[in-house]
Amino acid sequence: MARSSVNGRGAGPEPAGRPAPVDAVAVLDQESDQEFDPQASGPGALTAARAALRLALPEPGSKFSQDDEWCVVAQPGGPWTEFRFHDYDRIFAVPGLYEKIFYDVLGCDSPRFMVGLLADALAAAGQDPASLRVLDLGAGNGIMAEELAAVGVPYAVGVDILTEARDAAARDRPGRYADYLVADFTALSAAEHDVLAEHRLDALTVVAALGFGDIPPTAFRTAYDHIADGGWVVLTIKDAFLHETDPSGFAAMIRGGIESGALDIVRRERFQHRLATDASPLLYVGIVARKRAPLPT
Ligand SMILES: C[S@@+](CC[C@H](N)C(=O)[O-])C[C@H]1O[C@@H](n2cnc3c(N)ncnc32)[C@H](O)[C@@H]1O
Repeated sequence: MARSSVNGRGAGPEPAGRPAPVDAVAVLDQESDQEFDPQASGPGALTAARAALRLALPEPGSKFSQDDEWCVVAQPGGPWTEFRFHDYDRIFAVPGLYEKIFYDVLGCDSPRFMVGLLADALAAAGQDPASLRVLDLGAGNGIMAEELAAVGVPYAVGVDILTEARDAAARDRPGRYADYLVADFTALSAAEHDVLAEHRLDALTVVAALGFGDIPPTAFRTAYDHIADGGWVVLTIKDAFLHETDPSGFAAMIRGGIESGALDIVRRERFQHRLATDASPLLYVGIVARKRAPLPT
C-alpha cells in the first residue's frame, strides 16, 4: 500500500488568491525580484515560488472544454513550457504552480467558500469544529486542510490518487494532514480500509475533484461509506453533472441519496468555482449535507 504521513507543523495558512482579470494572450505575471529557492518548503517558500512563476493563457477568443484547458509557464531562468490543467502530476511537481494557475490567475476560491458553508452549518447545529475528523478526498497539495484548520477543524486525512499530490502537500503545507494516503478508492485494499476505519471519520470533503476523469462515482461512494452516520458531507460539482441527462452517474447517485433521505441537504449553493481561460465563469454547485444512511445502489 502506498501510504505516508506528512507531519511537521507549518507556520500558518496561505491566504487564498482573489479573482484576477484575464487579459488578451496574457502574460499575466511579471518576473518578480523576490528571492526564490526551488529547494525550500513551507508557506513562505510557497509564496515566493508563486511570485517567481510567469504564466500566459491562450488567445481570449479560444474556448476549450474543461478537460482540455492549458497554459504556458516559465520558471525562473527556464523556457516557456505548456501545462494541461488536468496534468496534476506535472503541476504539483512545480512549487506554487497549482496556486498560480487556479488561484492567482483564474480566481478559484472554492475551498474557502465551501469551508465557510461548513462552518456556518456546524455553528447552526451547535457542533464544535474541533470535534470533526475529516476525510479530504482528492486532497491535492492541501488547500482544503489549510482552510479547515482556519475555521478550527484540525483533524484531516488527505487522500489522492497521485504520489505527486501527497509530496506537494508535505512540501507546501507540512503538518496540515494527520495522515495522507495515496490510494485508488475504486479498488481499496483491505489494509487501506482498516487504516481509514482507524481514523474514525465523521466528515467527507470533496472539492474541485469530482468528474472530468477525476474522482468517479464509485470512489465517492467508497469514501462516503467510511463516514459515520450523522457525519458531514461537503462537495462541489460542476452544475452540468447534476442535470438529469448527465451520463457520469453523479446526478443519479446524488438525486437518489437526497430522495432516499440518506443525504440530508443543509446548504446547496450555485457559485463561481473559477474562470475558464477565456474568462467565462465556471459555475459549480456546492453541497453541505448530513449523512443519514448509505447511498442507495
Ligand atoms: C483540482 S484538484 C483539487 C485539489 C483540492 N481538493 C483543492 O481544492 O485544492 C483535483 C485533485 O483530485 C485528484 N484526483 C483525481 N482523480 C482522483 C481519484 N480517482 N482519486 C483520488 N484523487 C483523485 C487529483 O490528483 C487532484 O489532486
